[in-house]
Amino acid sequence: MTVNWNAQAYDALPLPHEAWGRGVIDGLTLRGDETLIDAGCGSGRDAQRALMHLPEGQIIGLDASESMRVAFTDRFAGVSRVEVRESDLMDVWPVEPEGADAVMSVAAFHWLDRQELTWAQVARALRPGGRVRIDAGGQGNLTRLLSAVDEVGATALLPTWHYAGVDETLDHLRSVGLTPIEVRLRSAPAYFDDDDTYARYLADVVLHHLSDDQRAQVAAIMGDRCVDYVRLEVAAKKPR
Ligand SMILES: C[S@@+](CC[C@H](N)C(=O)[O-])C[C@H]1O[C@@H](n2cnc3c(N)ncnc32)[C@H](O)[C@@H]1O
Repeated sequence: MTVNWNAQAYDALPLPHEAWGRGVIDGLTLRGDETLIDAGCGSGRDAQRALMHLPEGQIIGLDASESMRVAFTDRFAGVSRVEVRESDLMDVWPVEPEGADAVMSVAAFHWLDRQELTWAQVARALRPGGRVRIDAGGQGNLTRLLSAVDEVGATALLPTWHYAGVDETLDHLRSVGLTPIEVRLRSAPAYFDDDDTYARYLADVVLHHLSDDQRAQVAAIMGDRCVDYVRLEVAAKKPR
């Protein structure tokens, strides 16, 4: 099931993704001249932040969504060091093998039901000594929210998300020759200030395929304007 992302509505929301992206970028401790791939780059918010750390580097964003790529391209109009390429992250990435110093990914891996294929592409893209950091939905993510969706009989409308755990991810990393540095799950519930923002967040970020009425029922069951995120945080390195 595909999602027609509304990039403008997405950008207008108070996204916890911003803090997740900051953590990923800070964790990469970029030198300033690297080539960085942003896998599942969306509209380019994280790439824009990463660019501040890359005065002499370049960024290649990869994304399957046309509306996100258009928003990304608009954001970086006239910046030749940043480009976005159409890509299915589970297929061969349109990048030079061993051409990247670093790969980052924020809130994208849980959209991938064959994450081992994506980890293989990360390993292919990185030069020896290159580093990867991701932050995505992890095992246990949205347990309460998904149970509320189930209660309103709308589970069949959800896309297939895969919330990987630590052991599974360690297996993937090792099987493609990446050395794990840190792989962990972190509880990170997000709370929204008012009903309208919560409704828009559910509509534009999490529960795209439900009707307004179904989302309102989910919000009523939740009762506390919470999205009960659990993050999978991964840092790894390609051996020299
Ligand atoms: C929740 S958004 C996150 C975007 C951005 N990283 C952020 O944090 O705002 C997930 C992104 O992953 C992309 N995506 C999902 N599945 C994908 C796939 N198989 N290949 C490429 N991109 C994919 C979507 O198009 C979307 O832009």
